Amino acid sequence: MLQPAISPSLMCADIFRLREIIDVFEANGIEYLHIDVMDGQFVPNFCLGTDYCRRMKAGASIPLDIHLMVTEPEEKLKAFPFGPGDFVSVHYESTADVTGALNAVRERGAAAFLAINPDTPETVVLPYLPLLGGVLLMTVYPGFAGQKMVEGSLEKITRTRRLLDEAGRPDCRIEVDGNVNYEKAPLMRRAGADIFVVGTSSVLGPGDLNGNIRRMRRLLAEA
Ligand code: DX5
Ligand code: ZN
Repeated sequence: MLQPAISPSLMCADIFRLREIIDVFEANGIEYLHIDVMDGQFVPNFCLGTDYCRRMKAGASIPLDIHLMVTEPEEKLKAFPFGPGDFVSVHYESTADVTGALNAVRERGAAAFLAINPDTPETVVLPYLPLLGGVLLMTVYPGFAGQKMVEGSLEKITRTRRLLDEAGRPDCRIEVDGNVNYEKAPLMRRAGADIFVVGTSSVLGPGDLNGNIRRMRRLLAEA
């Protein structure tokens, strides 16, 4: 079973405390920094961009987990700084050239993840398995923080884990993104997820950041 990892959603981090927040993440061994990139076309919102990623890469020691919610990702990812150790998620629904987009990530040494929306069946990942470091299951409709988990998400995580294992890919990660709160995170873990995008629903919500991280770690370890 893949060890649980935490990937805080930086769109939910207080920009006026970012340096302090990253220092706390580093002190707590946070595994990835989830950077939501939105172009106002694939999703009706705009979010973090290339300069943000460049600054984060230069100023933090934690690998990036870039979530591309953009059209033509195979083109737009060229503007982003990423390399070995980083993850880049491309949405299945965002391009006709899924293979090209995934290979454009892999050519730079990063791990390619295929992101799928709540209404997209997990079986779409099968043809791309040889290219994938992981699957990003959206447990909310992408574009905005603070939403509620979509009904059926836990069952989808379980089906995806089974699909990957039966396809000979027990090493393929499952990342969950959206409304990962203290009650749902253990359920998601038991269902088969191993990377948890945490935002306003938990770690980057109310309360002391150190305490929130420790609480999430404990819940995931005990799940
Ligand atoms: C949704 C975003 C997520 C997440 C934020 O598009 O990708 O980062 O929803 O966390 P929550 O859901 O806890 O506010
Ligand atoms: Zn995301």
